[in-house]
Amino acid sequence: MCGIVGYVGDRSALPVLLEGLKSLEYRGYDSAGIAMPARNGAPGLEVVRRAGRVDELVAAAQARELAATAANGQHAGIGHTRWATCGEPSEGNAHPHRDCTGNLAIVHNGIIENHLQLRQQLVAAGHTFSSATDSEVVAHLVEERLTAGADLLEAVRTAVGALHGSFAIVAIDARYPGVIVGARVDAPLVLGLGEGECFFASDVAPLLRYTRQVVWLADGEIAQLSRAGARIIGLDGAEHVPTSTEVAWDREAAEKAGFPDFMLKEIYEQPRTLRDTLRSRAEPSGELTLTELAISPAELAEVNKIFIVACGSSYHAGLVAKYAFERWARIPVEIDVASEFRYRDPVLDAKTLVVGISQSGETADTLAAIRYARTQGARTIVITNVVGSSLSREADAVLYTHAGPEIGVAATKTLSTQIAALWLLGLWFAEGTGAMEREAAAEVIRELWRCPELMEAFLDGPEGPAAIAGIAERFATAPGWLFIGRGVGFPLALEGALKLKEISYLHAEGFAAGEMKHGPIALIDKGTPVVAIATHSRVLGKLISNVEEARARGASVVAIAQQGDERVLEVAADVVAVPETAELLSPMLDLLPLQLLAYHVAKLRGCDPDRPRNLAKSVTVE
Ligand code: F6R
Repeated sequence: MCGIVGYVGDRSALPVLLEGLKSLEYRGYDSAGIAMPARNGAPGLEVVRRAGRVDELVAAAQARELAATAANGQHAGIGHTRWATCGEPSEGNAHPHRDCTGNLAIVHNGIIENHLQLRQQLVAAGHTFSSATDSEVVAHLVEERLTAGADLLEAVRTAVGALHGSFAIVAIDARYPGVIVGARVDAPLVLGLGEGECFFASDVAPLLRYTRQVVWLADGEIAQLSRAGARIIGLDGAEHVPTSTEVAWDREAAEKAGFPDFMLKEIYEQPRTLRDTLRSRAEPSGELTLTELAISPAELAEVNKIFIVACGSSYHAGLVAKYAFERWARIPVEIDVASEFRYRDPVLDAKTLVVGISQSGETADTLAAIRYARTQGARTIVITNVVGSSLSREADAVLYTHAGPEIGVAATKTLSTQIAALWLLGLWFAEGTGAMEREAAAEVIRELWRCPELMEAFLDGPEGPAAIAGIAERFATAPGWLFIGRGVGFPLALEGALKLKEISYLHAEGFAAGEMKHGPIALIDKGTPVVAIATHSRVLGKLISNVEEARARGASVVAIAQQGDERVLEVAADVVAVPETAELLSPMLDLLPLQLLAYHVAKLRGCDPDRPRNLAKSVTVE
């Protein structure tokens, strides 16, 4: 989704803005732009925009000799990476958008739902529009208020009051030097506080090289930044006291650390991030404390049904959890793709628990699902990686995954940590309701604490990753892939297919292996790669029969299995061995070869695994 940066301070604004936009590239975008006051006190703004990558914006700024202007008074500015929602991706639709005077410019992330109506009114009032975006109405609305005598902060505040939708906005006006103003309603915006300088950004990544002191703007807050610091007011104009927190993430965590791509680095980080998710909640000895959930055992005992809502890979994490919750806690679990949830009139009440899962914490459908659940009186828990994200503010309780920043667009470490957090939730539930004996739950936790080591054994041992690289090489040109699994292997089949298709642009589908005979088996041709999740489970025998059926029709079977499993060796042309763990925990190991397979195929096909086409890291529109 769109990325926003804003700067005011003693530095030259240009490099801060351009670096900031580069560190937001992972959010997904199709154009970029910046606005700063014109050089050497000339009137108006200097605006540069380009369709395409930030590098093209950098080149355009250099061509205009902006880079050589450190001492020319451009000490404030705003920047934006746009992911088109309203109006095609183009230079004309790229942000910042100016008002009619050319003194004011705004950047915007989100959706202005009433933009058509506002546009008509503004055009009737004599404003001229130059883009097809919903965002441009904001510039003209603020302009109206400035013309009527308001200052920039007041003009933004009252303009925000006229907008419907979800948005983060930052504005700059050449007539208000040394000041930038931003507002947040349902879209992320964070302030960075430095010595004699302040920043706006969509997330902390652009801030880390300058400061760790941040203020998470709340919905309905408007902030004015200057060298002197931040002034925050509410939509009603009341002053709010800024409360800053220190971000623990460092810059290195946002860099590639020697790996060729963020995705590969993030795959290899998973043993560590799993430990971070478990730490302080589950002791290696088996103790479990989830104090952050703030729900008493008595309240817990009242819950008679759990709904899980999520999108994409987070949905697959939910599916993995469903198997565990139902087996451990003996409670019915329904799982919904978040975009479907509220439109199907789910039956919710105070005895229902709704769990929303989202790595970004900003996914519009998941956010709407959790809000809907609350209106129906249900309890809500959110599992997310981003502290202060929109979802984290909406739920009764939050379980953070502590995976650190995930820069690759495809979810890897955020997914495995979501699964771990869900397992902790399931065990806590099972223990709290008495469905599981303390010792049985402790046994699972001890095994879960073994998983990071087992993951390291797979990732660092030469055989597994090398086998995957070889398989990727042999099948990188296959036009269609099938992934099959049974039981808890089924969500893994879905995830393996999603990961492959999203970063290599090959057609891939995941199926419950038992469904193959009901249609998908018709897709199998001589040499069709069929990846089977064949680690030990109560349904392994049945899965092997399904694999045989596929092989008999010419499939080239790749099995993810335990070392030396004779039954699997007999039916699969390739076997990738993963260490053995408990059946319900096996997704933690099975994920690794699936992620590596997608990564290698993408690289062999010349695709950028970190920035897949058409996709965004944070999907803030429905
Ligand atoms: C897949 C992927 C997406 C996300 C989905 C939900 O690799 O990254 O499918 O899982 O867009 O995003 P979050 O988890 O942020 O709600």
